[in-house]
Amino acid sequence: MNKGMFVTFEGADGCGKTTQLSLLKDYLSANGYKVLVTREPGAGGLGQKLRDILLNYDGVVSNRCESFLFLADRAQHIDTIVKPAIEDGFIVLCDRHTDSTVAYQGYGRGLDIERINYLNNLATDGLKPDLTYVYDVDIETSMSRVGNTKDRMESAGNDFFNKVRHGYLEIAQKEPDRVKVIDATLPIDKVFEETLAIFKTFRV
Ligand code: TYD
Repeated sequence: MNKGMFVTFEGADGCGKTTQLSLLKDYLSANGYKVLVTREPGAGGLGQKLRDILLNYDGVVSNRCESFLFLADRAQHIDTIVKPAIEDGFIVLCDRHTDSTVAYQGYGRGLDIERINYLNNLATDGLKPDLTYVYDVDIETSMSRVGNTKDRMESAGNDFFNKVRHGYLEIAQKEPDRVKVIDATLPIDKVFEETLAIFKTFRV
């Protein structure tokens, strides 16, 4: 019951992953697990400041600079929040992590994937999620969920969104044992049934 575990929730903007994370948190807490909910970017004090720059800065941010800001947030997050919690026996549920950088900065912005993998590994100090969910949605569903108020990343356009989506599906193909894709256009309760069924295969 008290063995640490690292679970990440991924997908394009508006895929509904945060809702699923919260439903899994409620289920696990009700069943006696120690659960920590966290996110990237933006956990902790420094993370909040980096998140504000990443989502709201209105000047030019170069693609490489953007990557390093996400990676800086990740390094701090892993060292000060995620690793200690796992060691303390928590199931850590994290909203976005390394695969977001591969999908958004790699597939989306066109930076070299191998380099991003290398940098991700530096940022996490080699720690990998035990399980990663990718909630897959089409662009119409995503845009209807995101609504009209878009942040800097959400304003990147349809072409960018499709590249990100494709990136996630390729990541899942490359690492099928860790990364599980769920059709997130289904109703919330159906998506959660699948989320939970997958969790149970990892934590029997
Ligand atoms: P957030 O409001 O957390 O989006 P969501 O609710 O969709 O998770 O904003 C995070 C944004 O940052 C989101 O558009 C994805 C993007 N992102 C990257 O581009 N690279 C990364 O490494 C991470 C962690 C997030």
